[in-house]
Amino acid sequence: MKFEIQGKDPNSKARAGIITTDHGEIQTPIFMPVGTVASVKSVHQRELKEDIKAQIILGNTYHLYLRPGTDILHQAGGLHKFMNWDRPILTDSGGFQVYSLATSRKKSEEGVRFKSHIDGSYHMFTPEKSMEIQRYIGADIFMAFDELTGIPAEYHDAKRAMHVTHRWLERCRTWLNENPELYGYKQTLYPIVQGNSFHDLRKESAQYITDFNADGNAIGGLSVGEPEDVMYEITDLVTDILPQEKPRYLMGVGTPWNILECIGLGVDQFDCVMPTRNARNGMLFTWNGVMNMKNAKWKDDFSPLDELGTSFVDQEYSKAYVRHLFISEEYLGKQIASVHNLAFYLDLVQTARKHILEGDFNEWKNQVVPRLRQRL
Ligand code: GUN
Repeated sequence: MKFEIQGKDPNSKARAGIITTDHGEIQTPIFMPVGTVASVKSVHQRELKEDIKAQIILGNTYHLYLRPGTDILHQAGGLHKFMNWDRPILTDSGGFQVYSLATSRKKSEEGVRFKSHIDGSYHMFTPEKSMEIQRYIGADIFMAFDELTGIPAEYHDAKRAMHVTHRWLERCRTWLNENPELYGYKQTLYPIVQGNSFHDLRKESAQYITDFNADGNAIGGLSVGEPEDVMYEITDLVTDILPQEKPRYLMGVGTPWNILECIGLGVDQFDCVMPTRNARNGMLFTWNGVMNMKNAKWKDDFSPLDELGTSFVDQEYSKAYVRHLFISEEYLGKQIASVHNLAFYLDLVQTARKHILEGDFNEWKNQVVPRLRQRL
């Protein structure tokens, strides 16, 4: 994997670049739609490519291991072939999902034993196991197996989790060095900075991850309920330490305005379930603000869903029609809203990229953020 920086904003830490993988190029800053179980919920792969213009999507080790399982993915020749997606894929390691989804879990130095949220069966994830599963899945970028603590957390818990994450990282690398790729293309490992909201821990972790010298680096443990200011403060502190010449991925963030603020803090890659999850509840993000499609105010508004939208759904369907679909609980409403939100998120980062290359990102960002936050 290669990363080339093409331009920097003079008034912020924003950068525009290109990541090159064996499945193609990714223009940064980029938003990566979440396809947890080998599906970006309610969106066809063809729509993802042609309308939404997704350049890379996410999969989840935890879910794919439980269902359909590594045997099936291996037989299929990896996740790309199984789901018919030939562009890059990134997989999360299971660290966060065990923390947020498993119904019970027991942590040790060895790893985490957990109970499946699907059928209650017991499983053990270790750094080695997470790497093995991610080899079978065959993502282009995969994530280190980490441990995080919620915010707020006790200092000593956050410190212990950070040190465990660092020790597990070494075990990930050792396993990968001993077990080559399965499908004939390169896979690269991103380590994850932890340390909760404690500045000294975040600095120590960012330095440790920098010294680890991977192709790209991630910031984890944020967007877990802390105030936005804390998220920005920690991101700023960490991007001051992580190397300039490698892509930085902020995990699980966030709203359109969070993404623009964090691009300004030097982040290159984002993922979040928000555009798809909120779409299924009738929430649409637009350049003019946030719309709740269930609201009665759209009842007789026959104007296009989003005049500024880049996807076909924005011009072909009216607000009144999409509101009707939500009120009637029709599947099509969720599909239209998901395509719209993802196309908007991709338009957002592509427009940010254009402004970085033109050198006026920071002024533009400060102008559009208040508009993005409006409730329509
Ligand atoms: N997704 C969102 N935050 C995190 C994190 O801290 N670690 C992992 N592995 N995944 C995440």
